[in-house]
Amino acid sequence: MAAGAAGRRAVLALLVLCSMAAGAAGTTGFIKSPLSQKRLTQDSVELYCEAIGNPIPEIQWWFEGNDPNETYAQLWDGARQDRVKINATYNLHSTSTISITNLTAEDSGMYECRASNDPDRNHLSKSPKVKWICSQANVFVIERPELTAQVTESSGKLILSCNVSAPPSSITGHKWIHKGKTLVEDNDGGVSTSYTIDGKREEHSGVYECVFEGNPPISGQVNISVAPQVTAYKKSEHGNEGDTGVLVCKNPSFPAVTTWSWSKSGHGALENASGRYIINSSGNKTELRILKLDIEQDTGDYFCNGTNSYGTGDATVNLRVRSRLAALWPFLGIVAEVLVLVTIIFIYEKRRKPDEVPDDDDGGSAPLKSNATNHKDKNVRQRNAN
Ligand SMILES: *[C@@H]1O[C@H](CO)[C@@H](O)[C@H](O)[C@H]1NC(C)=O
Ligand SMILES: *[C@@H]1O[C@H](CO)[C@@H](O)[C@H](O)[C@H]1NC(C)=O
Ligand SMILES: *[C@@H]1O[C@H](CO)[C@@H](O)[C@H](O)[C@H]1NC(C)=O
Ligand SMILES: *[C@@H]1O[C@H](CO)[C@@H](O)[C@H](O)[C@H]1NC(C)=O
Ligand SMILES: *[C@@H]1O[C@H](CO)[C@@H](O)[C@H](O)[C@H]1NC(C)=O
Ligand SMILES: *[C@@H]1O[C@H](CO)[C@@H](O)[C@H](O)[C@H]1NC(C)=O
Ligand SMILES: *[C@@H]1O[C@H](CO)[C@@H](O)[C@H](O)[C@H]1NC(C)=O
Ligand SMILES: *[C@@H]1O[C@H](CO)[C@@H](O)[C@H](O)[C@H]1NC(C)=O
Ligand SMILES: *[C@@H]1O[C@H](CO)[C@@H](O)[C@H](O)[C@H]1NC(C)=O
Repeated sequence: MAAGAAGRRAVLALLVLCSMAAGAAGTTGFIKSPLSQKRLTQDSVELYCEAIGNPIPEIQWWFEGNDPNETYAQLWDGARQDRVKINATYNLHSTSTISITNLTAEDSGMYECRASNDPDRNHLSKSPKVKWICSQANVFVIERPELTAQVTESSGKLILSCNVSAPPSSITGHKWIHKGKTLVEDNDGGVSTSYTIDGKREEHSGVYECVFEGNPPISGQVNISVAPQVTAYKKSEHGNEGDTGVLVCKNPSFPAVTTWSWSKSGHGALENASGRYIINSSGNKTELRILKLDIEQDTGDYFCNGTNSYGTGDATVNLRVRSRLAALWPFLGIVAEVLVLVTIIFIYEKRRKPDEVPDDDDGGSAPLKSNATNHKDKNVRQRNAN
């Protein structure tokens, strides 16, 4: 690869120019340098570097393995099958974090943070006037020791335990973690630790972590796994005829549901493809949409089933479909009430008026209309007579 060869030449050029002392690089200096660390295989490591300068310096990460024939090679975001991530910010000063996940023994070695703001710093033929400044840290990756974990259930208690055999360094304490929160901690040096929970598996399912403190710390997972503990979001739902009905079930337990299904009493499985049913499911939640609700067809009990490798759980949702008119009843009731009131007032007014007002002036209600016409006829006739 041509780029590779060019890269190698650049490596050699830069190696010669890399200065270890911060002062030698003119306007660039480190304010934070990466720290050496010990880790276990499969763990991850993070190194941090921060530099200042004017203009703002560029930060690069370089690696030299423990093999005597290895030379420094630059690391980039996505290197080593995407296990390497570099997050740099250039804002007032430069910061860069390199993180490497799922460590292997080959990741052991020297990691170097390099900073420079020389305009010629990356020019392959021109040598920069100002050198790169460098800061190094060692990462030691140690083979992960054997860790055994188990859950036992007895008389309403759950006992989680972890044992470690042949730890690489002395143990200085233990810690239990669940959902990012530390549950208990001690300063004991033993190779086994346990944590007791009052209650049943079903109520406490999830991933728990035991940590043996030391350098490096050793952690293991203890999983409390159960069949899905499915619940309905609402046990009964209402929908209006013609609208879309939405029924929802959830599974808060661990592990997540792998397959969700919906069925209806006296109908069997509800398929996505049938057109009127749309099922949208994820590990936590399933949603059944029923298009154009029908009173006869859609009223009833629906069952959501969630299955994982430990079993199946289900919940029932009752759906009631109201007629469109039913939704209008309260409104129609008010309209009827208003009409009745208006009529009553009107009739009352009608009854009152003939007594108070002289007979030739009338209000113009339907039954009296013929009278009005008679009057008019009379006038016309009188006029005609004149
Ligand atoms: C370093 O030496 C090992 C054998 O000791 C060899 O397999 C490897 O390819 C060499 N690496 C380089 C970069 O030459
Ligand atoms: C990169 O680092 C910045 C500042 O430390 C942080 O806010 C941001 O979330 C990080 N981005 C990623 C993808 O880690
Ligand atoms: C970690 O690396 C090992 C091989 O070194 C691989 O088998 C495993 O799948 C990786 N694990 C993850 C989570 O990527
Ligand atoms: C851990 O060791 C203790 C005693 O040595 C033993 O009783 C327990 O069963 C072990 N636990 C596991 C998960 O191996
Ligand atoms: C516990 O569950 C997590 C998450 O699903 C999984 O990655 C891990 O392998 C499980 N651990 C054990 C010991 O079963
Ligand atoms: C049902 O169909 C919708 C879209 O039509 C799709 O997003 C969803 O994944 C499908 N669900 C299943 C269980 O096939
Ligand atoms: C399925 O659910 C997800 C999240 O709950 C949502 O983002 C997506 O739009 C839904 N898809 C359909 C077809 O309703
Ligand atoms: C499960 O639900 C929680 C919130 O209730 C959410 O944070 C999490 O991402 C969901 N997990 C999956 C796999 O959907
Ligand atoms: C769903 O649950 C019901 C009641 O437990 C059961 O009869 C049915 O076989 C289940 N369906 C599926 C697909 O698991």
